[in-house]
Amino acid sequence: MSKEQSITYIAQPGGQLSGEFRVPGDKSISHRSIMLGSLSEGTITISGFLQGEDSLATLKAFRAMGVQISGPDEEGKVVINGVGMHGLRAPHGSLDLGNSGTSMRLLTGLLSSQGFDLTLAGDHSLSSRPMKRVTDPVVQMGAQIESQEKGTAPLKICSNDNTQLKGIDYTLPMASAQVKSCILLAGLYAEGQTCVTEPAPTRDHTERMLQGFGYQLDIQKLDSQKSKICLQGGGKLTACDIDVPSDISSAAFFMVGASISKGSDLTLNHVGINPTRIGIINILKLMGADITLSNEKEVGGEPVADIRIRYAPLKGIHIPEEQVPLAIDEFPAISIAAACAQGQTILTGAEELRVKESDRIQAMVDGMQILGIDCEGTTDGMIINGGSEFTSGTVDSLGDHRIAMSFAMASLCAKGAITIKDCANVNTSFPDFIGLAHSCGLNVTSSNEQEA
Ligand code: S3P
Repeated sequence: MSKEQSITYIAQPGGQLSGEFRVPGDKSISHRSIMLGSLSEGTITISGFLQGEDSLATLKAFRAMGVQISGPDEEGKVVINGVGMHGLRAPHGSLDLGNSGTSMRLLTGLLSSQGFDLTLAGDHSLSSRPMKRVTDPVVQMGAQIESQEKGTAPLKICSNDNTQLKGIDYTLPMASAQVKSCILLAGLYAEGQTCVTEPAPTRDHTERMLQGFGYQLDIQKLDSQKSKICLQGGGKLTACDIDVPSDISSAAFFMVGASISKGSDLTLNHVGINPTRIGIINILKLMGADITLSNEKEVGGEPVADIRIRYAPLKGIHIPEEQVPLAIDEFPAISIAAACAQGQTILTGAEELRVKESDRIQAMVDGMQILGIDCEGTTDGMIINGGSEFTSGTVDSLGDHRIAMSFAMASLCAKGAITIKDCANVNTSFPDFIGLAHSCGLNVTSSNEQEA
């Protein structure tokens, strides 16, 4: 019988965060650097690649399709010998994408007309997440995809030599960078023009990186929220080196931790501050956080800065809905800030949180209630009545990395120890979270157990 590792965190109460360091590389950009680098013509060097399980799943998938990729070394240097748009080979067996929704959704588009059949598979959580949002538009473009009864993975892509996709003009039913990227990547192989209209701005790393690799895009702003992005199929990608900034979604835990613990003064270096990702900064500032940016510059088409966070008393707010897609991965951490803030915080327009690695609304509400916080879930968000300290207790992260790291930060504002179960998946996005957190003042340890 196979044994799985079960990791529990124990976070002791109190403390403050201080120091200056980098969190690991951006997950979204790391995935895309492997995908576009593999399809480019020439050799590309990536620095700062995230060595988390999710981005490594993408890297292994491209190796399995015949791309020569060396690294990552200790500094996150990866070298790819690009095979060009039509150089991928059929993998032996299915591509195992683990817990990574980004890998599965983007590859559904990118691999839907490669001239070979393949299967995209994932772990239990990924196999229960919605995939029709990507398979429907790609099938409309002419792809043949078989999914499970509820439209979930494993996804079998049947792509013989005759599969020629046709361009599509698609309006996204929800603000999702993964769906947008899937369609644009399928569009690279489609006849004619492919356009995607998004209802609100979502992360635009695919667009930026395609342009960085010399691919022409037409991007029109339709109003203050909507944009239409178009490209012509049949072009090529020219190799270009990539410097991956630190991930603002990983920085977010420390931004919240420093904001809620008296005496904290922390600087996070070289963090990506792409305007489609800075909801965490905007929301924390609206709550009264003391955050300053310095050393702002652009690296490889992505803006970065050093972010300094000092403790400041927070107040509850109604989170503006236009900030939701810009902070979509940060709500577990933001809920911890809201629990420590004076007054009520209301989150609306965030139903997407129910279909992330876990149902993040339920997971946070359940955990915070166990820890004595007055909060409730709604269909599309949460209401949190803040201002009290967390009590001691045991919460379940449900195998969701962001839930685990958020509750670890809650201990800074707690009366007793917090035990967090099922934390192994922190490795999907933040290898050595415990080491880094410990070194800046969070009193958290992790214990390994083998479970039959
Ligand atoms: C991602 C987009 C977001 C985000 C995910 C990574 C990406 O998902 O939650 O962690 O890299 O494109 P949606 O676009 O589905 O909201």
